Amino acid sequence: MSASTSASASTPAPTPAVSVLGLGMMGSALAAALLKAGYRTTVWNRSAAKTGPLVAQGALPADSAAAAVAASPLVIVCLTTYDNVHQVLDHADLTDLTDLPDLTGKTIVNVTNGTPAQAREFATAATQCGAAYIDGGIMAVPQMIGVPDSGAYILYSGDEQAYQTHRATLAAMAEPQWTGTDPGFAALQDVALLTGMYGMMIGTMQAFALVRSAGIPAEEFAERLAAWVGAMLASVPPDAAAIDAGEHLTDVSSLAVNQAAFPNLLRTYADQGLSTELFEPFQKLLDRAVAEGHASDGLSRLADLIQKP
Ligand SMILES: NC(=O)c1ccc[n+]([C@@H]2O[C@H](COP(=O)([O-])OP(=O)(O)OC[C@H]3O[C@@H](n4cnc5c(N)ncnc54)[C@H](OP(=O)(O)O)[C@@H]3O)[C@@H](O)[C@H]2O)c1
Repeated sequence: MSASTSASASTPAPTPAVSVLGLGMMGSALAAALLKAGYRTTVWNRSAAKTGPLVAQGALPADSAAAAVAASPLVIVCLTTYDNVHQVLDHADLTDLTDLPDLTGKTIVNVTNGTPAQAREFATAATQCGAAYIDGGIMAVPQMIGVPDSGAYILYSGDEQAYQTHRATLAAMAEPQWTGTDPGFAALQDVALLTGMYGMMIGTMQAFALVRSAGIPAEEFAERLAAWVGAMLASVPPDAAAIDAGEHLTDVSSLAVNQAAFPNLLRTYADQGLSTELFEPFQKLLDRAVAEGHASDGLSRLADLIQKP
């Protein structure tokens, strides 16, 4: 190692500036993680009281959203909805491009939950204001943010050059995972991951309701349920391969077998006095799959049938 390399390795990195707009549960966690990592962090929240704990940790309070944006080249936005983001950043209807703020030289990282279409629309508007735009999807709860090895990560998409420039700063919040230059991709994959999560949760809530209806405590059943759901995850890679190949014929568990057995689930729920509303739509999809000639295919065929022509 040369002397100059050794010297630069031991010199502390300069403290880049970052602003965080929105200090709810998640925004506060993001700002705290940036402060902990040594970044000069300016914070703004609609209700000013929420800046207090972060200022106590060294954050700089901004009087307005505009002042927070002006304070740093990197601006992280974490509000409840995209409508809130529009209200805060635009002060105007986004379709009125004559009244947009000048964001020249800024990188906006918007980690507010939204749809791919909202992300793309906002990317266009931000770019027209002179900013580089990165959209983000947070795959964590606030308690996991800034905690090494917590499993937290944030999906990003949009301006790749800006992402590479700020990647180290973003890594202070949670592991950054790049999904592509289409600004909607982070939101799309966020929604896809949440879809898998909600599917699992819907099933576990129905299972708990069922065992409890027979007097079995949920906690007594939890270990068996978690092991079973975990074991079923082994079907994810082969299902993915079947879906990409368009080859759904199976010798494991056909749609015909599942269609025939599924009414037993619905009947059991009804017999035990439970609602069937969560699972009835799945019976309809199985019925359609068989009616359309896919009786010998595996469940992977359903991904095709869900797709509208
Ligand atoms: N919490 C989680 O576990 C989690 C996980 C992943 C993603 N997310 C996403 O992160 C985002 C923030 O979630 P959160 O948990 O931090 O929510 P939260 O605690 O309810 O905070 C909401 C934030 O949005 C601000 N806000 C709402 N409406 C506003 C408006 N019209 N103008 C200006 N500011 C407004 C609030 O300001 P005030 O304080 O003034 O009300 C607050 O700063 C959401 O999109 C959420 O889906 C959250």
